[in-house]
Amino acid sequence: MKIALGADHAGFDTKNRIAQMLRSSGHEIIDYGTNDDTPVDYPQYGYAVGEAVASGQADRGIVVCGSSLGIAIAANKVPGIRCAAVFEPLTTELARRHNDANVLALSERLTGWEMTERLVDIFLHTPFDGDAEDGKRHQFRVDQLFEFGDAQRERTLKDIEAGMVVNAVTPKELL
Ligand code: RB5
Repeated sequence: MKIALGADHAGFDTKNRIAQMLRSSGHEIIDYGTNDDTPVDYPQYGYAVGEAVASGQADRGIVVCGSSLGIAIAANKVPGIRCAAVFEPLTTELARRHNDANVLALSERLTGWEMTERLVDIFLHTPFDGDAEDGKRHQFRVDQLFEFGDAQRERTLKDIEAGMVVNAVTPKELL
């Protein structure tokens, strides 16, 4: 796979270790930096990795910052990106199985290296259930993640006004 990597000053060491790990297992890396502890702004790295994945230059992306959160929020601003900030194996697996996450966000300050290795491995090797014959509902839901334009917003505002979400039942044929 071709994997885009990016990190701020609080995540560059983990990012570099991930790069080394992935290169040695045969992956191609696009590394957007940063490469030392000079303070930098995490949004730029989240955007760069997000754009690389959304444009198809990279198959997947991995971003690292101190907490994983800021850089994940940034990556998710890029249309087409489904970035999951994860700390343990099960949510990492579900981010792939149910949400088809295409970018993984990791925390250097909160997650140890052994767990990081495990999470990266799960992210790269877990399929999306929406690709299976009995998992079409997952694709149906993931598609809705990118519908938040004016029409969807209007629908959501109506739901808010009504005090509840209406018309969100998954079609029976997808269950
Ligand atoms: C940098 O100090 C830190 O704020 C950043 O790495 C990240 O945790 C932000 O969400």
